[in-house]
Amino acid sequence: MKRACVIGWPIAHSRSPLIHNFWLHLYGIEGSYTKEAVLPKDLNAFLASLEVQGFAGCNVTVPHKEKTFAAAVIHDPSATAVGAANTVWFENGRLACANTDTYGFMANLDATAPQWRENSGPVLVLGAGGSARAVVYGLLQAGREDIRVFNRSLERATELATHFSKGVTPLRWDERNDHVSNAALIINTTTLGLNGDGNPDIDFANAPKTAVAADLVYVPLETPFLKSAREQRLATVDGLGMLLHQAVPGFEKWFGVRPDVTPALRAHIVQEIGGS
Ligand SMILES: NC(=O)c1ccc[n+]([C@@H]2O[C@H](COP(=O)([O-])OP(=O)(O)OC[C@H]3O[C@@H](n4cnc5c(N)ncnc54)[C@H](OP(=O)(O)O)[C@@H]3O)[C@@H](O)[C@H]2O)c1
Repeated sequence: MKRACVIGWPIAHSRSPLIHNFWLHLYGIEGSYTKEAVLPKDLNAFLASLEVQGFAGCNVTVPHKEKTFAAAVIHDPSATAVGAANTVWFENGRLACANTDTYGFMANLDATAPQWRENSGPVLVLGAGGSARAVVYGLLQAGREDIRVFNRSLERATELATHFSKGVTPLRWDERNDHVSNAALIINTTTLGLNGDGNPDIDFANAPKTAVAADLVYVPLETPFLKSAREQRLATVDGLGMLLHQAVPGFEKWFGVRPDVTPALRAHIVQEIGGS
C-alpha cells in the first residue's frame, strides 16, 4: 500500500487529507494519506526516516517549509525560487522537494479567469510573505514584467523584489490604491480577511472593468476582499481553487495518477469546511 502524509506543528487544521483521500477513493488506489504532527526539533529525524516508515513522500506545512527545503538534496526550481518546500518525494532514495503553490495559484487562475492574460496593466500583489513569493514567481514565469508588491513592512517587499531582481517593484502598503486604475490583476496574499477578520481595503470602483481579483485566503470562501470586487462586477478567483490545484503534483508523484480538480472535489471540500 502506498502511503503519504502531511506534516506540520500543529497539524489538526490541515485540509490536505480531505483532498487526497477523495482522490484515493475516486481512483480506487490502495493507499493512505494521514496527518502527522511533527515537532520542529524532530523534523530532520522524521524526514530522514520517512521512506523507512513506508511513506512515498509528504506535504509540508507551517513551520517546516524552509527547514525541509534545506534538508532536501534535490530541489525543483519552484522550491528554489520560493526558498521553501511544501511537497517532498524520493528519487533513488534521495529526498526531493518542490513548492507547488506556484503551480496551484497559476493553474487555478487560468482555470477560473483565463482572460487575465489579455489584460496588459500592472499586476498588484498585496503582501510579501512566503505565498507572495510563490505567486510572484508564477507571474514572472507567465511573462509579466510589471509586478508591484505592496507590504506593511516595506523591507520585506524590498527583499522579495531583490530576490527576483527584475520586473518586481516594492511599494509602501499605503500606496496600494494609487495603482488600481489600470491594474490587470489584484492579488491578496496577506492574511487579511482570514476568518472574516480585516480587509486589504482596495478601491475596486476605481479599477478597470476587466481587472481580475484573486485571494489566497479561502476561509471564508468569499473574503471581504473578493466581496468588494464582486460588488464592482469584477471577475474573482478564490483561494480554495489554489489549495485544490497545489495538491495535484504531490498526488501524482506518490500515487502515480495525475488527479483532476473537479466540481465534485470542490463541493466535497466546501461541505467539509462549512463554506457556501
Ligand atoms: N489557497 C492556498 O492554497 C494558500 C496557499 C498558501 C497560503 N495561503 C494563505 O495565504 C495567506 C498568507 O500566507 P503566507 O504563508 O504568505 O503568510 P506569511 O508569510 O505569514 O505572510 C503574511 C503576509 O500578510 C501581511 N499581513 C498580516 N497582517 C497584516 C495587516 N494587518 N495588514 C497588512 N498586511 C498584513 C504580512 O505583512 P508583514 O510582512 O508586514 O507582516 C505578510 O505580507 C494565509 O492566509 C494562508 O493561509 C493560501
